[in-house]
Amino acid sequence: MLIPKRYLRYLGVFLVLLLLLGMAYWLHQRHNARLAQPLRHFSAAQQPVNGSTPITTLQAIPTNPAQVALGKRLFFDPRLSHSNTMNCASCHDLTRGGVDGQRYSKRDDGSLTTVNTPTVFNAGLRSAQFWDGRAETLEDQAITFFVEHQEQGAPWAEVEPKLRADKDFNRDFSRVYADGITLKNVAHALAEFQRSLTTPNAPFDRYLRGDKNAISADAQKGYQTFTRYGCVGCHQGMNVGGNMFEQMGSVRDYFAEREQKTGEKITRADLGRFNATHHEDDRHVFKVCSLRNVAKTAPYFHDGSAKTLEDAVTTMVRYNLGIEMPPNDVRLIAEFLKTLSGDYAEHTP
Ligand code: HEC
Ligand code: HEC
Repeated sequence: MLIPKRYLRYLGVFLVLLLLLGMAYWLHQRHNARLAQPLRHFSAAQQPVNGSTPITTLQAIPTNPAQVALGKRLFFDPRLSHSNTMNCASCHDLTRGGVDGQRYSKRDDGSLTTVNTPTVFNAGLRSAQFWDGRAETLEDQAITFFVEHQEQGAPWAEVEPKLRADKDFNRDFSRVYADGITLKNVAHALAEFQRSLTTPNAPFDRYLRGDKNAISADAQKGYQTFTRYGCVGCHQGMNVGGNMFEQMGSVRDYFAEREQKTGEKITRADLGRFNATHHEDDRHVFKVCSLRNVAKTAPYFHDGSAKTLEDAVTTMVRYNLGIEMPPNDVRLIAEFLKTLSGDYAEHTP
């Protein structure tokens, strides 16, 4: 025998440990695969998920009305900013599709954001937050907001005493959250309010439910065109996107050509998901935009470079498919995209 008997026990323990390590690695890989499915290129062959239509009707998220009401107060509360003059709605204007219509937004300190402001509508239906997905849930997003304190310039340590000093707010808050004003509770309330910001009943939802007249003949052709070009490979599900990460410019170098055209060099923000993961594969990878209400959220892309829907569609196809889309197809797709604007019904009392 090669191994003395008394060492066999150690060998056994070693093998069990190896097995456990293997399992942990496998689970980790599976988790990563779920976060970013390796679907880097367009292809019409990328077919519907689950055998049903690739885009499904938008369902509102059940929320707690008292928490939503508190979250709404926080969303509009300027005390969350350093200067006490700015609130979430300064950039995420709920009367303008949840954005401000600017390429980059002005922060509390007067500087500009390094990426375009995404909409908060239907944010609760996305599987990650921020262009680079560095926060997973809306709660994570709100906590990151206070930790980074870029947009409104006020870290939690500065906001907390301001909120606590307000007797009425304290009382109302403690009625809803037993342990009162904490970062965790404030983040939860903000998240709960944003989960209420869904926009069901878009014309396209009515169309999916069987009302064939809910969208125009051109929009119907646009939907077919959208499917034919393989847009649904990435922009699918209830939110028509927002559930995977993909590269900007997988076929043609978007960033090099942007520099040629405008002189704008690659910024740190252009590295996208790389900033969050430091994986080489994640360079220029961004969260696939949700196309819900997209007609209301110009300008487009993480760098706000596309002024119109037509521009955005043309650019997508040019850099990720490597072709020039015939103008009529662009027009039809834009007609379809316009049918994705839904109603925001306030759920708060
Ligand atoms: C100065 C403008 C500005 C203000 C004020 C602001 N935001 Fe944002 N918000 C942004 C920008 C820009 C991003 C994208 C940042 C990124 O991806 O790195 C963003 C991202 C988000 C996201 C993620 C959306 C997505 O699709 O990834 C949520 C949710 C959000 N903000 C909520 C809030 C809340 C809640 C507040 C107030 C507490 C707030 N924002 C205040 C500009 C702003
Ligand atoms: C390989 C995945 C993928 C496919 C396929 C794809 N897109 Fe995109 N789309 C993205 C990503 C990633 C972004 C964000 C890129 C960025 O901001 O730099 C995006 C952004 C967009 C935007 C901008 C939305 C906004 O709010 O800024 C529009 C419009 C769009 N896509 C339309 C389309 C159309 C139309 C097609 C089919 C011709 C298509 N996409 C195919 C991944 C994809």
